[in-house]
Amino acid sequence: MRIQHSNMAATGWPECAKSLKGVILDLCGVLYDSGEGDGVAISGSAAAVKKLKESDLQLRFCTNETQATREKFVGKLQRLGFDISVSEVFPPAPAAIAVLKERGLRPHLLVHDGLLDEFDGVDKSNPNCVIIGDAAENFSYKNLNEAFTVLIGLEKPVLFSLGQGRYYKETDGLKLDVGVYMKALEYACDLKAEVIGKPSPTFFQSVLNDMGLQPHEVLMIGDDLVNDVGGAQRCGMKGVQVRTGKYRQIVSRDFSSC
Ligand SMILES: *[C@@H]1O[C@H](CO)[C@@H](O)[C@H](O)[C@H]1NC(C)=O
Ligand SMILES: *[C@@H]1O[C@H](CO)[C@@H](O)[C@H](O)[C@H]1NC(C)=O
Repeated sequence: MRIQHSNMAATGWPECAKSLKGVILDLCGVLYDSGEGDGVAISGSAAAVKKLKESDLQLRFCTNETQATREKFVGKLQRLGFDISVSEVFPPAPAAIAVLKERGLRPHLLVHDGLLDEFDGVDKSNPNCVIIGDAAENFSYKNLNEAFTVLIGLEKPVLFSLGQGRYYKETDGLKLDVGVYMKALEYACDLKAEVIGKPSPTFFQSVLNDMGLQPHEVLMIGDDLVNDVGGAQRCGMKGVQVRTGKYRQIVSRDFSSC
């Protein structure tokens, strides 16, 4: 099933919405467009979020933001006019922390300096795995080589990647994304990374667990047909694609800005 709406504020819900108990929203491209500074809110989206919050539906926000902590990220959303709190937002880092706890792993981090605080309470001594995120400027030879050295020295090397994008677009041009560096470490250590983030089913499942709902009771709204809509549908959720954000670009190239 694939239903398209012009934007989040579009009136009228799909027929399947009648049995719904929860909604998961993508952020970038659905509620706002990234750009200089905080970016800009998409027209009508703040009102649509308000309306959803006033309904009986549970609401969560699913993003692959990995350059900032949830607190900083949510601060930006609030400045853009959205009534969203930290506990409602699901980026990959907290999902990764849950996996670490479950499996008793201690990470070496190759992530953006802005994300480090998110891992404050995590035991990073004597690491037995590596977590890589979109580190941008922090993808130096030194930092990459350090992550490589940790991995290759492990008896059972485990590499987690927060997303696996190839590149994205910022106002000053295209930027290499985490997937490129993930591949480099995979190649060097002859292993396969475990990706945490959209469209991974474990990532969506962690959001469902938090809502306490079954997949068929939840609708995912996103602008990316593969990562948002497809990922949700593979988990048994319903998916709706909006025609904002990267919608137009999908047919030509995966040219995402978020
Ligand atoms: C990350 O990059 C920033 C900006 O270039 C730099 O100031 C900081 O020292 C770097 N941190 C690490 C751990 O490489
Ligand atoms: C983030 O998600 C979008 C879809 O919403 C996807 O196109 C993009 O490649 C993802 N970025 C990362 C870092 O995985």
